[in-house]
Amino acid sequence: MQTEPLKAKYEQLLRDLNAQLRDFYAQLRAIHIDQLERKWITISMIVIGLFVGIIVIDAFFHGVNPPSKVETVDSASLHLNKEFAEDNLGVHVDEKGAIIVRMVAGRYAFFPKHISVPAETAITLRWVSMDVLHGVHIPMTNMSTMIVPGYVAEITTTFPKPGEYPVLCNEYCGLGHNHMWSNISVIAKEDWTAPVKSAAKGGSNNE
Ligand code: CUA
Repeated sequence: MQTEPLKAKYEQLLRDLNAQLRDFYAQLRAIHIDQLERKWITISMIVIGLFVGIIVIDAFFHGVNPPSKVETVDSASLHLNKEFAEDNLGVHVDEKGAIIVRMVAGRYAFFPKHISVPAETAITLRWVSMDVLHGVHIPMTNMSTMIVPGYVAEITTTFPKPGEYPVLCNEYCGLGHNHMWSNISVIAKEDWTAPVKSAAKGGSNNE
């Protein structure tokens, strides 16, 4: 029968593993660690634990995700896609009054070419690429993300004060990469009015 030698092999393997673990532990104990060093190791472990804990709590309880969380889109047919069809791009105000901006990145521009948004207001920007990998960076805000074809990148940001904010592509996307930029006009909160189109539609953007 084959089972006996197989069983013996398995037991031998377990014994070896056990011996190796003991050996490792013994070596670990034999290392002299200075009192001060031990303290710093402990502090580092606590700090790492704290950071990992914050990330886990944010992810699970506050719903904070990386911008390219797994939300897929067919980059080859954005014009047929309900959400990112041409008429739906730009600034929209939804039923709850939240401002959502949909933008398409393509070689070598961001579409729509120009938008206006209010200052000191939370604005959720949803980015998709129509061709290759792009990036977007808006100085003075937390807006900096890759726009990966096939995925929706979403970031909520607030523009601190009125003015013209540059929108820059920060991932090399081809020969025209350094010309790929545009502007967002940020208007004082009290002077900004929602675009008429979305108001007429009652904020529904999937028609
Ligand atoms: Cu788009 Cu670089």
